[in-house]
Amino acid sequence: MAHSLDIDFYESEDPIWNPALLTIPVPGIRKMVNLAANLDDVIHLSIGQPDMPAPEHVVEGAVEALRAGQTGYTMDAGLPELLEALAEYYGERYDRHLSPENIIVTTGATEAIYLALTATSAPGREFIILDPAFMLYAPLIRMNGGVVKTIPLRPENGYQLDPQEVIDNITMNTYGIVINSPSNPTGTLYPRETIEAIVEEAAYRNVHVISDEVYDHLIYDGQEYPSVLSCCSDLDHVMVISSFSKTYSMAGLRVGWLIASQGAIKKLRRYHMFTTTVASTPSQWAGVAALRGPSDFIDNMTAEYQRRRDRLVELVDKTPHMTGYMPEGAFYMFPSLPEGVNGSNVALRMLREIRVCTIAGDTFGDNMNNALRISYSTSLEKIEEAFDRIIPWMEKQDFS
Ligand SMILES: Cc1ncc(COP(=O)(O)O)c(C=O)c1O
Repeated sequence: MAHSLDIDFYESEDPIWNPALLTIPVPGIRKMVNLAANLDDVIHLSIGQPDMPAPEHVVEGAVEALRAGQTGYTMDAGLPELLEALAEYYGERYDRHLSPENIIVTTGATEAIYLALTATSAPGREFIILDPAFMLYAPLIRMNGGVVKTIPLRPENGYQLDPQEVIDNITMNTYGIVINSPSNPTGTLYPRETIEAIVEEAAYRNVHVISDEVYDHLIYDGQEYPSVLSCCSDLDHVMVISSFSKTYSMAGLRVGWLIASQGAIKKLRRYHMFTTTVASTPSQWAGVAALRGPSDFIDNMTAEYQRRRDRLVELVDKTPHMTGYMPEGAFYMFPSLPEGVNGSNVALRMLREIRVCTIAGDTFGDNMNNALRISYSTSLEKIEEAFDRIIPWMEKQDFS
């Protein structure tokens, strides 16, 4: 069974493996999805990518590139046309001048996160991350000997972040602060004041803010997006990461980027050549098509996600034992179960007993073991159907 293979691999004691690999946890998402693959009639509230096809002009961009023989390597920093398009796009969006030398194109945001964290983490260096957070950050820091300091976020205030708490945790040994707004797994969007306070203090204390902005277009209720790029006076202490994966439904095309000072980009370019060389060439052309083409896809997708979010909030509200809040971005909600309830058991039982796949809170840190991540990257009908199963199931539970 695929499920047990995963466990065997990740928990292997075979001495061939670098002990640093022990920092990589058994991936909670894969475990659930593999288990679900062996069951019939499962409704997935576990999906981490858009459920809509990529827009036609993006697909054409990749196909045209392939037909035109664009199958070789690009320049190490990325396809020049894409670097130009990204610099223009960000320049217009945040009214700040960026040159192509401020950008490196990577194999998805994942590689950008990998480069940023592994190029800065070293024994004794501290990094502040939030709990819950996207599961890549802490292992990448620890793998290189860095120390992870977590700041717990609480459901009572929609998992908002108190910037003062971040500032109070900065020490002489702090090298980086990792933020992700809107957040995976909570969908929380940090207001401009929060980002500004953190970015300002970090620059003053010579600490880098590494900002994962992959959901920067999935923002609801017409709010403006407070990117770190619109909150910093220069790029000396920031690394901003994003990708096409979520915005254009291009997760499988694997194109992301990192924006930083020209000095930092030079350093990371060398490292990038020793990791993945370059991102996929036809995919980078698809990225150029995405940025140069119409943006109605994003507007339609955001409107659809907002409808789903609104309905999900109502459904969670009606569910016994589940406490929700209003997520303002991405396509996740992280409702909590009563204090002390093991979310992992609940997620497993819901999968086995009612065939609804969610992801347990402990996948994203230690602080919210009693939460479940629900993704609404699935149709409204599926969301309704899932709660037709969840609500009566929860009514029968006695968590006291
Ligand atoms: C917060 C966050 N960062 C990064 C990624 C990875 O994005 P990419 O597909 O561009 O590598 C994801 C994907 O789920 C994510 O949720």
